Amino acid sequence: MKKITVIGAGNVGATCANVIAHKDLTREVVLVDIKEGVAEGKALDIWQTSSINNFNTRVVGVTNDYLKTKGSSIVVITSGLPRKPGMSRDDLIKTNAIIVKEVTEKVVKYSPEAIIIVVSNPLDVMTYAAYRTARKHSSRVFGMAGILDTGRYKAFIAEALDVSPKDIHSLLLGGHGDAMVPLPRFTSVSGIPITDLLNKEEIDKIVERTKKGGGELVNLMGTSAWYAPGAAAAQMVEAIVDDQKRIFPVCTLLDGEYGLSNVYMGVPVKLGSKGIEEIVELKLNKEEQKMLEESAKSVKDVMKILDEMNLFDD
Ligand code: LAC
Repeated sequence: MKKITVIGAGNVGATCANVIAHKDLTREVVLVDIKEGVAEGKALDIWQTSSINNFNTRVVGVTNDYLKTKGSSIVVITSGLPRKPGMSRDDLIKTNAIIVKEVTEKVVKYSPEAIIIVVSNPLDVMTYAAYRTARKHSSRVFGMAGILDTGRYKAFIAEALDVSPKDIHSLLLGGHGDAMVPLPRFTSVSGIPITDLLNKEEIDKIVERTKKGGGELVNLMGTSAWYAPGAAAAQMVEAIVDDQKRIFPVCTLLDGEYGLSNVYMGVPVKLGSKGIEEIVELKLNKEEQKMLEESAKSVKDVMKILDEMNLFDD
């Protein structure tokens, strides 16, 4: 792997570049931003931790110079405005759709072979916008949300049970919005079902907190989160670079899976060097399927706004 590019040197993009560098996955990480000097400064700051944190990866920052991103194998797109208190992710659609489209055009121009990971919000629809712009197979254009949302879910379970978050395995489906579908039936602590360890009321509370997990942070900080979103995107990069075949919930284009089509949203996939190598279909019960369909509906409602913007030629 030669080069990994992260577009957007805001909190999420810079954190993502930092974690990728710490993992020493590649020779070079390029960080791009539109604000003069920001990417250069943050990249230099990260690079100056290399001897302290023991990594070799060169982190280079540029202002809008996509030539420097040429030939990237993976590009993470974090561009766009973050949420402010009182806003839903969907409120960002009009501004961020235009930004994501412009960025994706430049990414594809210089790195036609790159796998694209979208992090911008509203996540599912922005991933769809990047897919429409990039005109690549959907196995190579997908979005990060499920690792972040399961990260929150696992943190809350670890706290409730006073166990290591490392031992918690879980799945979560649906869009990256308040209708996301954490799945207690597919959640365990080292194989012990959480339904044996927590009562329904405790689980319901954790599920609700997970669904609103992004909003909880926006309310605390006045802007959206970055440590977990950045680290989650870096974990996807790692799975691809090392061809790990990990099973993660990832925002992908559904084509009949789960009875849904023409919608980008989170389902478990196998992630390896080719990108999404398989979509895993779970046997859902009626209630889970219904929640998934409701989540798909809320993503499709936002997709409609994107369609009405007429950004794409075909
Ligand atoms: C969150 C934003 C990044 O969930 O969507 O924190």
